Amino acid sequence: MDFQPLKYIYKASGNPAAYTLLLLHGTGGDETDMLPLAENFGNSYNILSLRGNVSENGMPRFFKRLGMGIFDEDDLHFRTDEMVAFVKTLASKEGFDLAKIIALGYSNGANIAGATLIKYPDFFAGAILYRAMQPFKKISAAGVAGRSKLFISSGSFDPTVNPADTAAYIEILKNIGSRVDFHQIATGHGLTSEDIYLSAQWLSENFGAKQ
Ligand code: MLT
Repeated sequence: MDFQPLKYIYKASGNPAAYTLLLLHGTGGDETDMLPLAENFGNSYNILSLRGNVSENGMPRFFKRLGMGIFDEDDLHFRTDEMVAFVKTLASKEGFDLAKIIALGYSNGANIAGATLIKYPDFFAGAILYRAMQPFKKISAAGVAGRSKLFISSGSFDPTVNPADTAAYIEILKNIGSRVDFHQIATGHGLTSEDIYLSAQWLSENFGAKQ
């Protein structure tokens, strides 16, 4: 199967040195979904928002799943490669810096961001992952050295993500060189104002105008 382009929205900040926030929606969302959320992070970032190329009964996703929380890992590999290749071509077309991408992913979007961190450890400068799950069952840390700074928030009552699995996943991310700031929030799968407040604070401390 050949790589296909992804539908996207790009908004330049006007500053050639800006970081780019790569917005990755959850199941059933699209490229417009995360735009209101991104407004909480100020206007100094370029915004690149993608729509996943997979359709599950009409609901866009970034990769196929075989059941709830059971991922089609072959498709996840393919879609991760497809997305990375697409973002690389967009960087020259739209004029953003490939070394300054910060993923902002929710649920299914957080999971393809996680797959990217594992397959391409140097692709993201940082990532905000809300309600993330470990994308691949087996992850070998051999030979990879990432440099990403990560913000991860989970919901303690989230029926789709087991807290013990999140802890194991975070250990793996640390082992591949990521610096993880983790928050568990007393909520379910949906996002809360606390997720947004904490991640906005983390973003400004790590990738704000003064960094
Ligand atoms: C997934 O990637 O399948 C999830 O994290 C759950 C979902 O998107 O609903």
